[in-house]
Amino acid sequence: MLSLKESGMPEIMDNVHRYFATTVGLITTKGRSGQNIMAAEWTMHISYDPMLVAVFVHESPTYWNIKETRAFGVNIASDDQTDMVNIAGGYSGTEIAKLAIPGNFKTYLAKHIDVPMIKGCALNAECRVTAIEKIGDHIMVVGEAVSAKFDENKFPLIYTRGNYRKLSRSKIPSARKSVRVTPAQISQFEKMSAGQFVLKAAVALIRQDGKILLQKFDDSWVLPMVIVGKGANYEETLEKHLDSIGVSPSVGKIRGIKRMTLKAGKTELRANFIGFDCKLKSLESSDAKWFASLPGNVVLRTLLEKP
Ligand SMILES: Cc1cc2nc3c(=O)[nH]c(=O)nc-3n(C[C@H](O)[C@H](O)[C@H](O)COP(=O)(O)O)c2cc1C
Repeated sequence: MLSLKESGMPEIMDNVHRYFATTVGLITTKGRSGQNIMAAEWTMHISYDPMLVAVFVHESPTYWNIKETRAFGVNIASDDQTDMVNIAGGYSGTEIAKLAIPGNFKTYLAKHIDVPMIKGCALNAECRVTAIEKIGDHIMVVGEAVSAKFDENKFPLIYTRGNYRKLSRSKIPSARKSVRVTPAQISQFEKMSAGQFVLKAAVALIRQDGKILLQKFDDSWVLPMVIVGKGANYEETLEKHLDSIGVSPSVGKIRGIKRMTLKAGKTELRANFIGFDCKLKSLESSDAKWFASLPGNVVLRTLLEKP
């Protein structure tokens, strides 16, 4: 049988790395291998506290300097620094003192480590090594950022499919459905969200004989719903809530998720509702009742739209 390569099909494993998108770190070091700079797309922030950055390198002057001094600079290239990236990534410190080539790298001295840093980057971090470990065919170097600064006006260069790209300056518009509600409704939802950044709720859809079960909430009627705390299980939380208002259901399949931005005047609240189709076992509630036609509640209508 022909291998993928022999059959003329693209060899997946040969190409898969090209389809990741990364930023590019200019890793600066100073040691017995001299002052050096290399390009490393595998440079990433991996912990908030302590603030850790990992770089994956191969055996080369950069690694030798890091192993010796246990310090390195991370300079995230901005999208006007492709020349620097090409030089830092195209030559080894064994071949040429890259930082000494005139007219390319503008450097400044790091404050906390003895390493040159690069001007004009999106971000600069001075790192002290906390771990070194061989991972696959590269060596993972983890450093704690002892100081870091960024330039709001610079955008990081993106590397993907073997090319350098610019990040678009425009944000992707939210895919949330915008839903106008009354000031009273939005304050109800705000109360429910109890300060959550995004209101996250589990909602029960319980229908019987052409009617739908709604729950009283302050002055209006809504689908039975409950705010779900971070990490809590949606199905269990909904079951408990329904039980607490005298509705005994069997919670069934997930019907879908509705992501909305609720708007009333200038007030906005992001809200995610995960709906469950539920079957009623028994109803002993003064807080819930059947409705044959829906009250004029736009959130309610949106929740009931087909997913
Ligand atoms: C865009 C780009 C990204 C690179 N990313 C990495 C990387 O993440 N890890 C790595 O070991 N080499 C990477 N390289 C290759 C090194 O930068 C290259 O081998 C360089 O010569 C090493 O420098 P040194 O030998 O002076 O230490 C990359 C090269 C380029 C052009």
